[in-house]
Amino acid sequence: MPSFTQQLRLPLVGTESPSEQACGNGRERLASLLAQDLDFHDKRSDYCSHNFHSFPAKFPPQLPRRFILGLTDPGDIVLDPMVGSGTTLLEAVLAGRRALGFDIDPLALLVSNVKTTPFSAERAADAGGEVLRFARFALVGRADQLRHELETRFDPKTRRFIEYWFAPRTQLELLALVLGLERVEDSLARSFLRATLSSIVITKSGGVSLARDLGHTRPHRAEEKEPRCAISEFEKRLERNLRSLRQLDAEPGCAQVLCGDAQQLPLGPGTVDLIVTSPPYASNAIDYMRAHKFSLVWFGYPIDALSQKRRQYIGGEATQEFAFEGLSPKAGERVAAVAAADAKKGAALNRYYSEMTRCIREMFRVLRPGKVAVLVVGTSVMRGIDTLTHVCLADIAEAIGFEVIGIATRRLDRDRRMMPARNGEARASQIEHRMHEEYVIGLLKPNRVEACDARRTS
Ligand SMILES: C[S@@+](CC[C@H](N)C(=O)[O-])C[C@H]1O[C@@H](n2cnc3c(N)ncnc32)[C@H](O)[C@@H]1O
Repeated sequence: MPSFTQQLRLPLVGTESPSEQACGNGRERLASLLAQDLDFHDKRSDYCSHNFHSFPAKFPPQLPRRFILGLTDPGDIVLDPMVGSGTTLLEAVLAGRRALGFDIDPLALLVSNVKTTPFSAERAADAGGEVLRFARFALVGRADQLRHELETRFDPKTRRFIEYWFAPRTQLELLALVLGLERVEDSLARSFLRATLSSIVITKSGGVSLARDLGHTRPHRAEEKEPRCAISEFEKRLERNLRSLRQLDAEPGCAQVLCGDAQQLPLGPGTVDLIVTSPPYASNAIDYMRAHKFSLVWFGYPIDALSQKRRQYIGGEATQEFAFEGLSPKAGERVAAVAAADAKKGAALNRYYSEMTRCIREMFRVLRPGKVAVLVVGTSVMRGIDTLTHVCLADIAEAIGFEVIGIATRRLDRDRRMMPARNGEARASQIEHRMHEEYVIGLLKPNRVEACDARRTS
């Protein structure tokens, strides 16, 4: 198996020399792309493997595609350091670019890998058929063994979680599928089938679990819910996901997804040609792990280990022993405003802007001079105060050395984007209004000469 640097033919150490595409040209192109309509509400997003698995706050594929086509050439390297479900990477692959993604979330890594890795649909179909046969047989002929396995396989806390969120019948069905999956030797087929299994658990409405509103990462247990048969759901979903896999076959680009922290990227300086990413919201507004543990527990992750992991996500609320950064003026002012209303919330916002300072610093380092980073962000409300995330991240980026080319506003299609649930939608305040929008920040890493000129004239 070639390493990711070999497969993508990435330079281990990049270049700090100016890109061939003149900076000025990049600036104009970016400004004109930002000025176009970025809503894409009437556009389909279910082509290729985009709809393989639901994912909160996934952006429409047309958004990264606009910037990939407008700002890079075939063979260029496109990075998403917070890859989520891999929308940027898939669009880069479809456009014949080399795509690279990082995330720390185990489910994001699984889903984005499967969505962007071409692989024999015949092998996947055969393995899926075997899993279904095994699961059906086990449910009828080995029910006692399945029940025993259910009692002994998980630690007590994980077991309690499963008991609470899944009906007894569903527990047996999912376990039968998992045991079938574990027999699949081909690792690509196994990952594909795992992601398929996960996609029947994590759906907007909570899939085969007893949860409602899993899509908004705010699950609550619905006593009255009649979960569907997991075996039939898996079979249906398998057919659908095999169709997406077949569409990936002939695509010209390639992608690599790795576990890595966006605050400390394992890449040399000046290695990538474009970044398109959407960071998490401040203050855990979308709590990925809260939803993702619904399928991760079935793949052997204990609840305690997942809770530990949750603390590492950008936008978490724990601030004990956290190493804060010096903030840019606007970010500092927002943190002070929130802290005056609630010290704990202020510290959480301070943590978020500190983490994002480190991420943006890394983006600046790994980009080639003259190249662009596009950040898609939503703002949050803490103790009634708008965090003005777009304004603050642009301010942080400028302090690091980026040139802020523009901040465009796009209207959210909330049903499709699976955004955090809000109470009191009717309140027509300015902040409420903002929650229906998100912002596309266009940043340019100036060529060194230009940056010096700019400093001399200012
Ligand atoms: C808004 S989502 C990205 C959605 C993505 N644009 C898509 O279309 O699917 C943000 C992602 O950031 C990830 N994340 C959180 N903390 C991270 C960190 N320290 N390093 C890398 N990724 C992180 C989360 O796991 C989540 O997948």
